Amino acid sequence: MLLQNKEIPIHIDLPGDRGYDLVFSSISALPAKMRDAGLRPGKCLVITDTNVAAHYRNPLVSVLSSDGWDPFVLALPAGEETKSTAHLTAIYNAALAWNIDRKTPVLALGGGVIGDLAGFAASTLLRGLPFVQIPTSLIAQVDSAIGGKTGINHPEGKNLIGAFYQPKLVLIDSKLLYTLPRREWTSGLAEVVKHALIDDEAFFAWIEAEIRQIVARDPRIVSDLVYRAAGIKAKIVSEDEFEHGKRATLNFGHTFGHAIEKALGYGVFTHGEAVNMGMKAAVFMSRRFNRKVEHERALSILSLISSPTIPSSIGIPDIRMAMSTDKKKVSDRNHFVLLRRIGEAYVTDDVTVSDIDAAIAFALGRP
Ligand code: GLY
Repeated sequence: MLLQNKEIPIHIDLPGDRGYDLVFSSISALPAKMRDAGLRPGKCLVITDTNVAAHYRNPLVSVLSSDGWDPFVLALPAGEETKSTAHLTAIYNAALAWNIDRKTPVLALGGGVIGDLAGFAASTLLRGLPFVQIPTSLIAQVDSAIGGKTGINHPEGKNLIGAFYQPKLVLIDSKLLYTLPRREWTSGLAEVVKHALIDDEAFFAWIEAEIRQIVARDPRIVSDLVYRAAGIKAKIVSEDEFEHGKRATLNFGHTFGHAIEKALGYGVFTHGEAVNMGMKAAVFMSRRFNRKVEHERALSILSLISSPTIPSSIGIPDIRMAMSTDKKKVSDRNHFVLLRRIGEAYVTDDVTVSDIDAAIAFALGRP
């Protein structure tokens, strides 16, 4: 059992007035937590998707109304395509028709797509409205809702338009995760394991001990898992808000993962499945350079979470090609996050094409 008091919020410590709390509470506590964050009842804009709205729109509206809030709810289609200029414009139109002012908060009730889109809308409407994250997926609760990355996709690539814009509050209710489709749960687990591998060996050991309960979403471990993983993200963001150093290690498995997603065609794997496979490649590459990496421990946990296979029509050159057109390359080189050991990571571009090919071959199971 992890020893942690989940009544205690985790504070993200940032300069100026950008610091804020991650509060681990049920949605019914939202109005009180919004007051604690300095927000006073009035109009608010709730952005969600139709899947999440089916479960949580009515409870949220009733809890907000009972404290004097006047919410307008915009439920957008679920899915990655919603992170687009068209839906950003739909939010602007709804907000302006609702006669918002500079104190009107934007609340994101949803997973990563809704959080990123609503946050970007909040950052630009009237040059910045207060923003509240209420993440409903595992990936959002432990990663995307924390740290202020907001944005939309462009036909040239994912997340190419965006801004750092911190919320005033993140309310994390791990009970919301029980309505998540099973594949979304295992997809989120990839990011949880990523946090442990890059930063916290003791958490990784706990995951190993509890892996069956974790995969089965056992209610006895879910809130501990979320609290500990969200805490790692909070610590990293407090240290490096704008990704000049440590924060980049959160991209562990992502250089490979994004290329796999792109080569397969978006939507075939979930993001977490692609990152899981990408981490297998990154663990393999890490071990090539660092003998202290206990690769078998890492690979065994990743395989227990998900082991999708790639059709034989996709070859190693397809994945390397997708990597070479990655718009996020720096000075025309791909960057890789590698492990020095379980619990410690670093970023490098000092790898050869044959290192990359060997790692992809390993992850694809085609040595
Ligand atoms: N999801 C990675 C980051 O927030 O930096």
